[in-house]
Amino acid sequence: MSLKTGYSDDVTRGFLTWSIIWGLVAVLVGVFISFQLVFPQLNFPPYLTYGRLRPIHTNAAIFGWGIGSFMAMFYYITQRLTKVPIWSPGLARFQLWLFNLVIILAAVSLAMGYTQSKEYAELEWPIDILVVILWVIFAVNIFMTIMKRKEEQMYVSLWYIIATLVGVAVLYLVNNASIPVSLFKSYSAYAGANDANVQWWYGHNAVAMVLTTPPLAIFYYFLPKITGVPIYSHRMGIIAFWSLIFMYLWTGAHHLLWTPVPDWVQTLAMGFSIILIAPSWASVFNGYFSMNGQWHQMRDNYLVKFLIFGITFYGLQTIQGPSQAIRTFSAFIHYTDWVPGHVHMGALGWVSLVLFAGIYYLIPRLYNTELHSVKLANAHFWMATVGQLIYSISMWVAGVQQATMLHATNADGSLHYTFMETLAEMYPYWHMRAGGGVIYLVSLLIFIYNIIKTIRSGSAVGETLRATGAA
Ligand code: HEM
Ligand code: HEM
Repeated sequence: MSLKTGYSDDVTRGFLTWSIIWGLVAVLVGVFISFQLVFPQLNFPPYLTYGRLRPIHTNAAIFGWGIGSFMAMFYYITQRLTKVPIWSPGLARFQLWLFNLVIILAAVSLAMGYTQSKEYAELEWPIDILVVILWVIFAVNIFMTIMKRKEEQMYVSLWYIIATLVGVAVLYLVNNASIPVSLFKSYSAYAGANDANVQWWYGHNAVAMVLTTPPLAIFYYFLPKITGVPIYSHRMGIIAFWSLIFMYLWTGAHHLLWTPVPDWVQTLAMGFSIILIAPSWASVFNGYFSMNGQWHQMRDNYLVKFLIFGITFYGLQTIQGPSQAIRTFSAFIHYTDWVPGHVHMGALGWVSLVLFAGIYYLIPRLYNTELHSVKLANAHFWMATVGQLIYSISMWVAGVQQATMLHATNADGSLHYTFMETLAEMYPYWHMRAGGGVIYLVSLLIFIYNIIKTIRSGSAVGETLRATGAA
């Protein structure tokens, strides 16, 4: 615990360290599976095949890197916004170890082929139970801290934190309801189209409650800290928050257009997806307008670059997403590489850039020192951005070509290309994606080197003189 601030930051340091480790694992596996697609001989059955490594990649990325850093930053932010120390530092430390245990069990069980076969909800029921315990501990600790707060006003970041805690709990419990038949196997409590509907209600709200609300909480907190000027409109932030939460929950079936799910459910999802542009862009505008008179900081302050590029990719993502949710557009790009292009603009561009900004801001303060090298941080920024753009753009082009070929017909109505012909055309793009991935990986190694050097030059003991300024 800090003598100076009274806040407990040990757990933030712990979660940050582990989230960076899991982030590295996620990216290494991501790059490896990108190469497996181009060089199938890189599949080593039974454990190291594409089929088993892909969910390890997504779980390590979303839960290890994403949720790990969110937990770190939620603890940090909540204490500062409520002006009280965390309710139970002991429980938070226990949560860190349970979190790591879950991630390790996830990696091992997925490598062994145990899966519920639901994307982003692959983990079998015993691990699900651990996840529920983990989440309850986290939620209780944050809620108790908020309840004991000394600051009456609830800054918008706190609302996003609360939404994440409640949203993930509801989604996880409903979609993972299953009937165990052995220690390692269970069957979903739902069947057929209902199962698909529940799964994608979960799937897209995982995008909402894991890949949107936490980075927004972090963005709204760190932007004013980093630029030194307040957010443009708190009221707009709150209105956007409530409308975003209300609208997201109806959109899941946009993953199931043209399927046996009832037509009205698909139309509802399409409609809500389109109007979701409004609350999403309200946050983008809030970010941009907060920069009025401050745009020079894009040049002078490396952290601003991460945040503003991050929110810009969020803006692009939330135009692309609603477009994809339109039936005719979906008919074209669904089942093509366009979709991983969409995913990684958000994952690498939006979520990760905002997390990097937060980590760069926090590490020097948590270890009472200065960042080792701003030059390296700038190199990291540019390489990560270029790597991500190569990934996303090559996949969009690949997706359009693949879609065009899959839809091409002869005069008699038969398909012009075989599936294998469309696949062979993807190889150049998959090479490009692997190249983009390698650039991103190198940028991540630079980031990790910079962070290690920074930590080594500081000390976590009796922290931190600067945290008072950060509070
Ligand atoms: C207004 C907001 C958004 C809308 C309406 C939207 C819409 C969509 C649609 C329609 C798909 C399905 C594409 C297909 O398979 O045909 C999709 C996929 C996906 N989106 Fe978005 N998107 C939005 C924002 C985001 C954001 C901010 C992220 C963050 C990274 C994201 C991550 C994903 C992921 C991970 C998938 C792939 C799911 C899968 O098939 O496994 N989306 N999105
Ligand atoms: C340079 C780093 C990365 C590389 C090279 C990479 C590569 C890949 C590849 C090859 C796939 C499979 C695509 C397919 O099945 O066609 C994939 C899927 C996915 N990755 Fe990554 N990835 C990286 C980083 C990340 C990060 C940091 C996140 C999240 C924060 C992430 C989230 C996802 C998700 C959600 C999917 C599933 C997409 C879908 O089902 O459409 N990835 N990634």
